Amino acid sequence: MENNWTKFWREKNEFDTSMDVNFNYFISRFTRYIKPTKESVILDIGSGPGHLEDAYFDKVKEIHGVDISERYNAAAREKHKDHPNVFFHDLSATDYLNFSMLDGKKFDIIIVMSVLQYYKNKEEVVQLLQKMCSLTRPGSKVLLCDLIVQQSKFNEIIEILLEYLKAGKILVALSLFFRLRFSRYYDVKKNNGFLILTEQDWKHMLAQLNLKGTFIKEKLTLHKRRKNILITID
Ligand SMILES: C[S@@+](CC[C@H](N)C(=O)[O-])C[C@H]1O[C@@H](n2cnc3c(N)ncnc32)[C@H](O)[C@@H]1O
Repeated sequence: MENNWTKFWREKNEFDTSMDVNFNYFISRFTRYIKPTKESVILDIGSGPGHLEDAYFDKVKEIHGVDISERYNAAAREKHKDHPNVFFHDLSATDYLNFSMLDGKKFDIIIVMSVLQYYKNKEEVVQLLQKMCSLTRPGSKVLLCDLIVQQSKFNEIIEILLEYLKAGKILVALSLFFRLRFSRYYDVKKNNGFLILTEQDWKHMLAQLNLKGTFIKEKLTLHKRRKNILITID
């Protein structure tokens, strides 16, 4: 059965017009750790409206987005309809660990930005990591971004508001604040929460899968308590 978060993302939602603020913060920082080149084949898991594709379609060999939201994929495909090196694949909302459409492909870079908090449990994340490994080659890099590793002490909505304010996005922040507080997001978050995996959980999972991953010290997204992990494949 479909879970509430996948349902949330597949329908029109409050982040449609504000998600780019967090992404723009990330895009200007992540190249300190991963440098896409004209030879790079990139996989973007949970690609949403296609922000990474918008920024990189003309700088890399191929870029593939996968998402459970047909709505985001349709909009992203439309934007990139004239770019033959950009692909968007629909993941099933009930079987989202099924990446069979990518069987046989190898990626130099995999980015998972602000997605894993919507998974059901740690076991699913381990399965995703295994899938990702099968889609890489030695030297490939995997960047797991915006990971929630601790329960927020404050109301998450207030935190988002403050961070958008700091980024100078006052109007976006205020409008998002009111929309979120009285939104489906508020209810879904209240009833389902986010998947929180602590730094210790991540260390165990990486060790279990024999993966070399390090926490990046610098903040890569607007959420200062969230973490980012860079994995280099042997
Ligand atoms: C916060 S948005 C981030 C989008 C994009 N990565 C960005 O940073 O602009 C979360 C995205 O994850 C997608 N998503 C949620 N659950 C997912 C799942 N289980 N598998 C793949 N994508 C998922 C949503 O549809 C949405 O596009």
